[in-house]
Amino acid sequence: SVADLKGMKQGQLRLAVITTAKYFVPRLLGPFCHRYPGIDISLKVTNHQHIQERMAENKDDLYIISQPPSQPDLKVYPFLENPLVVLAPTGHPLAGKHNVPIEKLNDAPFIMREPGSGTRQAVQNLFEQHNIEVKVQLELGSNEAIKQAIAGGLGISILSQHTIISEGTGGEFAILDVEGFPIERHWYAAHLSGKQPSVVADTFLQYLINESPAMAQKFLPGLGQSALKSEELA
Ligand code: PGA
Repeated sequence: SVADLKGMKQGQLRLAVITTAKYFVPRLLGPFCHRYPGIDISLKVTNHQHIQERMAENKDDLYIISQPPSQPDLKVYPFLENPLVVLAPTGHPLAGKHNVPIEKLNDAPFIMREPGSGTRQAVQNLFEQHNIEVKVQLELGSNEAIKQAIAGGLGISILSQHTIISEGTGGEFAILDVEGFPIERHWYAAHLSGKQPSVVADTFLQYLINESPAMAQKFLPGLGQSALKSEELA
């Protein structure tokens, strides 16, 4: 239809995404905005708990999350992997060791994300399963601040691999090969199931699902398997 012609789609798109998606979504928005110059985008970056609060208030058109809440009712679309890895400074005694038993994390000085973070939730679930008790040296509300603390020698942490996508390993960070890691998770695009996406929101959703595998190959070569197979996409 005429409205589908390049550049004809117009309107506002309100996105709210979890903290790790900020390492990917802005790169995708560049080519998207060039293709659809009539679409204005606002992007809110925050943790899972705040995203859930925004959902309850119906504040946004689309969300990107990795741990879908049970409430509110959502329609979710998985689009890329979002694994959690154990990050240490290069030169850490466990760096380069293979298959490190998870018990080795016991009593390790650890840097933890803030309450409300999905990363923190996933880490705590895993520690509970394995009876791990780390020594929380520091609690920080930002992946970037945690990276600086790791580099500064304050301890180790567990973060999404996307947080080190620009610098990779070999510089300041080593990914430790700990048993049970990486923890496999995905990013999901989501909207309230009772809310029909606008034409603009639907355009972005399709773009995200169709273009992110190729974008991932370009920007995220470090990820093991860069994309879900198309049949896994709902
Ligand atoms: P968080 O989510 O910011 O709530 O920790 C990040 C993630 O799960 O990738």
